[in-house]
Amino acid sequence: MTIAQKFMSWVDARFPATETYEYHMSKYYAPKNFNFWYFFGVLSMVVLVNQLVTGIWLTMMFNPSAEGAFDSVEYIMRDVEAGWLIRYMHSTGASAFFVVVYLHMFRGMLYGSYQKPRELVWLIGMGIYLCLMAEGFFGYLLPWGNMSFWGAQVILNLPAAIPVVGDALTTWVRGDYLISGITLNRFFALHVVAIPLVLVGLVFMHLVALHHVGSNNPDGIEIKKQKDANGIPLDGIPFHPYYTVHDLVGIVIFLMIFFGIIFFFPDGGGYFLEKPNFEPANALKTPPHIAPVWYYTPFYAILRAIPNKLGGVIAMGGAIAMLFVLPWLDRSPVKSIRYKGILSRIAIGIFVVSFLSLGYLGATPSTPIATIMARIFTFLYFAFFLLMPIYTALETCKQPPDRVTGGH
Ligand code: HEM
Repeated sequence: MTIAQKFMSWVDARFPATETYEYHMSKYYAPKNFNFWYFFGVLSMVVLVNQLVTGIWLTMMFNPSAEGAFDSVEYIMRDVEAGWLIRYMHSTGASAFFVVVYLHMFRGMLYGSYQKPRELVWLIGMGIYLCLMAEGFFGYLLPWGNMSFWGAQVILNLPAAIPVVGDALTTWVRGDYLISGITLNRFFALHVVAIPLVLVGLVFMHLVALHHVGSNNPDGIEIKKQKDANGIPLDGIPFHPYYTVHDLVGIVIFLMIFFGIIFFFPDGGGYFLEKPNFEPANALKTPPHIAPVWYYTPFYAILRAIPNKLGGVIAMGGAIAMLFVLPWLDRSPVKSIRYKGILSRIAIGIFVVSFLSLGYLGATPSTPIATIMARIFTFLYFAFFLLMPIYTALETCKQPPDRVTGGH
């Protein structure tokens, strides 16, 4: 026995190091037919680590007060060594997070990865998504730019729509009668400590749940049903080294695109860092067009599409709630869109068009025609989910194969 082996057996007798490594890596059998869509889970982890590391660095130089916040961000951008890089990695990283997470969620919808037995993987994922939305919102106030201030103004006024307790609730959440340094301080605490803790805990549970049931795949068939004499799935390959090396390629390509954007297009033309945010918060100067960052705009369009404020808040909440109950809306006997019928294919097409159109409409100033369009797409968005139990039960599906197709 070498010294390293002796050391490991000492550790293993006290902590399940080798067992955990084998369970999650070298003896975790993943389907051999993963495709492009399966890169976005690992990419979400890469961006999560990026946000945590650059966030810790920013916290070292950021001043969480109404008097100092805006100037401290300028100081980071101009005077701190590589401060601009750290800040852009974090601000552009927020948009990158939503790009990869939206693609990751869409993959789940395409291949029915939310269906039995992965309902909890999906629900924990939805918990992660809510945390991400909250994290983005709290973080956006911190640079204390004019859009930070007015964006928070719009969103923090939403609870006021709740009858009876609304106004008191809004004041309680804000901590003041108007958005002030007090609001900034609590948002800082939530953005830097509370939400990241929950987020990391949920990501851990997401992976534990996934490895307990095993990964789905583009064919949507369970590889655990076909095992060899040793109990190893015939269509499975060990995650390490096969997918670690495979994922590395995706990570390198992603980082090339990510840093390309950071170096040449860091504010995304006003979509990653909005133009009014280059001016300090000013309670007397409302930006001509208040719009949230792009990743919230589909839901913002739904909020604006409903003429009544409380109705709008309910519709917006309902739009997110639909995703939570998705596993119970899909009655299809098959998982993957490859074997679902024509109705599901049309429906998912309608969903994509509605979601993207709502995203566009939420980012642009509202006009009478835009409001009508937003209402139509809001209707279609809800129809996709609410009619799902009907069209997935009605249509004829193709018989999926016994073994996965593709993969090498
Ligand atoms: C920080 C955010 C997230 C991280 C780091 C993360 C990480 C991962 C990883 C590493 C995998 C396995 C690799 C893969 O299948 O791509 C995975 C699978 C999965 N994730 Fe996430 N995830 C995140 C957010 C979400 C969200 C928001 C949802 C949906 C609401 C979601 C739903 C799923 C599902 C359904 C699977 C299983 C997919 C399958 O086996 O086909 N995840 N996640």
